[in-house]
Amino acid sequence: MNSRLVKYASFFLLVSIIFIACKKDEEPEEELPTEENKPYTLDYGIFPTPNIPSDNPLTVEGVKLGRMLFYDNLLSGNNSMSCASCHKQENAFSDINRFSTGIHGIQGGRQAMAVFNLLWNTSGFFWDGRSTLLRDQALIPIQDPIEMHQMLPELVSELQASSNYPAQFKKAFGTSSVSTELIGKALEQFMYSIVSNRSKYDEYLKGNVSLTAQEERGEFLFNTEYNPAFPDASGADCRHCHGGDNFENDRYLNNGLDVDTDFVDFGRELVTGLAADRAKFKVTSLRNIELTPPYMHDGRFNTLEEVVEHYNQVKSSSTLDGSFGPQMPGGLQLSTEDKAALVAFLKTLTDFEMINDPRYAKP
Ligand code: HEC
Ligand code: HEC
Repeated sequence: MNSRLVKYASFFLLVSIIFIACKKDEEPEEELPTEENKPYTLDYGIFPTPNIPSDNPLTVEGVKLGRMLFYDNLLSGNNSMSCASCHKQENAFSDINRFSTGIHGIQGGRQAMAVFNLLWNTSGFFWDGRSTLLRDQALIPIQDPIEMHQMLPELVSELQASSNYPAQFKKAFGTSSVSTELIGKALEQFMYSIVSNRSKYDEYLKGNVSLTAQEERGEFLFNTEYNPAFPDASGADCRHCHGGDNFENDRYLNNGLDVDTDFVDFGRELVTGLAADRAKFKVTSLRNIELTPPYMHDGRFNTLEEVVEHYNQVKSSSTLDGSFGPQMPGGLQLSTEDKAALVAFLKTLTDFEMINDPRYAKP
């Protein structure tokens, strides 16, 4: 063999070794569940069996990793802010500021949303539903320039270089190689693990406590349709949209905050491109509503009293939900006592156990 041939032969040998070595690295390592990574026991009481994504089952180590990430300032561009900076447990994982302030001191234009019972939320995330999967949603605030303003590749290398994360990724997902996909999946697991169904009202439904007369009146108004022909049997029809176990209906609707000329945020239309979706927003859960002021997508109301005052006389617009039809144009005409009763009922939905649950607290 001449020397040139030897050179070529060894060159090809080297290339194939590198190729094989790289290929090996790229092969996906065994995912869930590993021996020490047990399924996470989700305690959801009377709620219907949730639809947990089959490609991301909740595991003890996965939820733990998600919780570490949720509370870690490393997730933001200048390491000053975590998800929990805007989603505080004491406020049912929301922010009591009208608009949350991001890492550069700039505020966004929407009110932070509460994070709990998201497993029973099956039609998108954010006020306008622009994220379909929770794992994708989780990566948006990280990159948002006015929220956490972090580059994902930079975050991946920071976590990879840290002393504790690679081992925790290994425990959770069977690989110590950090990736954007697994960050999203871990955050999804932790957020899905947050369940709220231990309020006074839940205890009342189980027959363990009683409601006051005022709370019972509020419950009646909340659950009963508006019917001007029979004032004694007429209610405020809140259940129409805020119904079911989670006090929401998984839809995007216009609840009469503005007339057409005052629409500022087009809400759902920004996602679907349909004028029929203009100024429609997610019907949020009313659980823990006492803890999550201010209210609505733009935080325009500071108190539940103001919210009830709003529903007493909603504003007409092209996309106003049809269910308000019977009460237009005069409004619900609730008495002072009935307005107070509705607020009293809403406060029975507060879950003090959830906000003090160590499983959801900063690790
Ligand atoms: C600077 C404040 C801020 C930070 C930090 C932040 N969020 Fe949010 N979050 C918001 C706001 C504001 C909204 C509503 C935005 C919208 O609808 O456009 C929101 C919405 C959400 C929702 C939607 C809930 C629902 O019911 O649809 C989830 C889930 C969520 N955030 C999780 C996270 C996670 C996970 C992190 C960390 C990776 C995070 N947030 C960081 C302010 C923040
Ligand atoms: C037609 C459906 C509909 C009806 C009926 C309805 N709501 Fe709502 N509700 C919504 C929508 C949609 C939002 C979110 C609107 C927004 O932010 O722009 C909302 C938001 C709220 C909020 C604020 C939630 C938050 O996280 O800031 C409260 C409180 C509330 N509703 C209470 C009530 C009460 C009390 C009643 C009965 C008097 C009622 N709703 C009737 C659709 C409805």
